Amino acid sequence: MLLEELLQNLNGIRTDALAALQSAKTDAEIEDVKNRTLGRSGAVTALREVMAKIPPESKREAGMAFNETKNAIQNALNEARERNASATEAAEAIDVTLPGRRPAAGRLHPLTKTIQECCAIFRRMGFVAVTGPELEDVWHNFDALNAPLNHPSRDPQDTFYMPDGRLLRTQTSAVQIRTMTGMKPPVRIISPGRCYRRDTPDATHGVHFHQIEGLYVDTSVSLADLKSTLMTFAGEYFGREVAVRMRPSFFPFTEPSVECDFSCVMCGGKGCGVCKNSGWLEIAGAGMVNPKVLENVGYDPREVCGFAFGFGLERLAMLKHRIGDLRLFSDNDIRFLHQF
Ligand code: DAH
Repeated sequence: MLLEELLQNLNGIRTDALAALQSAKTDAEIEDVKNRTLGRSGAVTALREVMAKIPPESKREAGMAFNETKNAIQNALNEARERNASATEAAEAIDVTLPGRRPAAGRLHPLTKTIQECCAIFRRMGFVAVTGPELEDVWHNFDALNAPLNHPSRDPQDTFYMPDGRLLRTQTSAVQIRTMTGMKPPVRIISPGRCYRRDTPDATHGVHFHQIEGLYVDTSVSLADLKSTLMTFAGEYFGREVAVRMRPSFFPFTEPSVECDFSCVMCGGKGCGVCKNSGWLEIAGAGMVNPKVLENVGYDPREVCGFAFGFGLERLAMLKHRIGDLRLFSDNDIRFLHQF
């Protein structure tokens, strides 16, 4: 009778365990079946004690049935574990059909882009882009450009001087001098770069800012050439027809000197908030290179003449991209920079 009871018990445990493992979905469920059957206080383990009481003639049969049950459950456990592991793996596998994640790519600063655009436009007109040092000497920044000794721009209130007497250049015009002392005419260059002035920073002024300088020296250069050069540039940069107007002005390094206005690139000259209803935007200082400057660099003003111009790059970029505050260019706010 004991044998029969034992076999029945084993059968029951086995049927239950296999059914439970069949439907087990998680590791916890599988381990639970193990604990209930083969574990230290599991049902199969508990039957070991019953085995001891089996009469000797039935021991063999009982032992075989016991082992068979144990093995069957163990096999089912192994299978269930494997099945579960590969299901988890499949769930975690990479789906190669999903759209990829783009790496965060850097981009060029809007001012760098503006410089590149300007250089490309002038290059098509035959100008070569050159650069000069930001740490400059007084001769290149002021003396050779014919700035009188008492010119207010020389004042330490306006210009950053170094202990050795050099200065942070206040204008890219210094590169005109460096270029002309280094080569013979004809000269046709533009020079973009950073300048420094002791200004109080606000929406339109910075302690440092960028200018682009232009210089064309040859045997017969006129103000009309200057005007057409600037008109061509403006048309290409702003992508619309721009009129150029010249007003008399004064710069030590040009004679005559002019202030160049572009017809408003926002309203086309009709009048709007950006041009303060005048229809015009002040863009560049310019003029015919002063003969004294030509002499200072060793050129003969009876043989050559030229035009020069200079304007602020931030202003150009602000007009094109409708940026209201110059300080945004140096704030390094990624949300701003990402828009370009
Ligand atoms: N250097 C001038 C400034 O910083 C701008 C300028 C005016 C440049 C006239 C020129 C020029 O080359 O001819 O305000």
